[in-house]
Amino acid sequence: MKRLFIKTYGCQMNVYDSARMADLLAPIGFATTETAEDADMVILNTCHIREKAAEKVYSELGKLKLLKTAKAAEGGRMILAVAGCVAQAEGQEIIARQPAVDIVVGPQSYQRLPEMIAKISRGVGHALETEFPAEDKFDTLPEHKTADGPTAFLTVQEGCDKFCTFCVVPYTRGAEFSRPVAQILAEASALVAGGVRELTLLGQNVNAYNGPGLDGAPSSLAKLIEVLAGVKGLERLRYVTSHPRDMSDDLIAAHRDIDILMPYLHLPVQAGSDSILAAMNRGHTADTYLRLIERIRAARPDMALSGDFIVGFPGETDKDFDATLALVRAAGYAQAYSFKYSPRPGTPAAASTQQVPEEVKDARLQALQALLLSQQAAFNAACAGKTMKVLFETFGRKEGQALGRSPYLQPVHVEGAAGLIGQIVEVKIEEILPNSLKGALLHQAHSEEALAD
Ligand code: SAH
Ligand code: SF4
Ligand code: F3S
Repeated sequence: MKRLFIKTYGCQMNVYDSARMADLLAPIGFATTETAEDADMVILNTCHIREKAAEKVYSELGKLKLLKTAKAAEGGRMILAVAGCVAQAEGQEIIARQPAVDIVVGPQSYQRLPEMIAKISRGVGHALETEFPAEDKFDTLPEHKTADGPTAFLTVQEGCDKFCTFCVVPYTRGAEFSRPVAQILAEASALVAGGVRELTLLGQNVNAYNGPGLDGAPSSLAKLIEVLAGVKGLERLRYVTSHPRDMSDDLIAAHRDIDILMPYLHLPVQAGSDSILAAMNRGHTADTYLRLIERIRAARPDMALSGDFIVGFPGETDKDFDATLALVRAAGYAQAYSFKYSPRPGTPAAASTQQVPEEVKDARLQALQALLLSQQAAFNAACAGKTMKVLFETFGRKEGQALGRSPYLQPVHVEGAAGLIGQIVEVKIEEILPNSLKGALLHQAHSEEALAD
């Protein structure tokens, strides 16, 4: 057996892709390991979304080069591969900057890894694949059924046609593509048979999903969710990331009608000023977003809303930024991610002459995060004393402790629940901590009351 270490950066789709690369390399003798030190092959599955993310890769490669050299000195060998969005965006440049890299493979070509490994094992220099191949990668990957626990990601849609002016994803992931329902259903069923209870459907614009349905006609994400809700043993469904423009009526209705569809929605808006939204090419205004949120809450009043924000987009004035704060106050988030604008090579916004100074970005990010954190705290505080169903996923740090997620994706930890990994259990929320909720098992709470009587 050879050892494979995969380090994953970026979004959940990269987490999914890393799992699929492990599936793909298992039949040719690679078992995954937890550290680079003992690995025969290291894959960095990279992210290009912001400059910092991309730069991290080169510093990591520098360290791995030393490891590779040390291994070679002892007569060993380490194959070094760069996968993911930096591989797609920078291709050959990676090998030029770090010649110790053997393989560069983009997100649409990693099904070719076994051939690439064979090629470099024959000593033929480097191997590079960053085309968007005609074949469907999902058709050629082995079956995916190796989930590490009760939750799993499942890519249903990939790529983006939206071309927000700040974003590299349409270039690194290519055009929007949706997998057929039958293929997704087979993968979901295999995962559930392997013990998965919760699936998160992934797509760069997951609600633009329009793959062929079981009858061959295009299916919406809502229809796909309806089909998956029929998989016996599947107890929770989530999806991420959605675009406001593709939030269709049937998907909103699914939140009202489908029990296992969780009341949590990640719906990035990026900014609250209409002129900035237009410059970003988002295709919606602040008002259309807020009205959309109203319709979603009418269908599912307890919906936990999440989002992404960018501060300091080129040309953003104080007034524009105030509009972002106003939108956040009006929408009300259960949690959110916010970033300083990072100019990305090749994107239209990077060429703008109206770049916002770093210190202004810093101050805006701080103000926005303070507001978002206060909303998150309020959302969590409102859960105190409530009973929620928690899916336990892993052991906690303390003995007997188990960690799980509420329907609203809040982390919940409970003592005396270690035997409940993989189960959904009623938990009474007793304490609100900064990053999690502390709860007690309801049946245990009952029995303690019974003892006291
Ligand atoms: N398709 C998803 C994923 C995009 S990347 C979506 O539309 O949400 C995740 C987040 O990164 C984006 O929502 C955006 O907030 C942020 N992001 C993208 N490009 C960025 C850039 N150049 N600078 C700062 N943040 C960026
Ligand atoms: Fe990027 Fe916009 Fe596409 Fe999201 S919708 S991946 S932010 S281009
Ligand atoms: Fe990053 Fe690529 Fe995901 S750029 S956010 S890994 S799609």
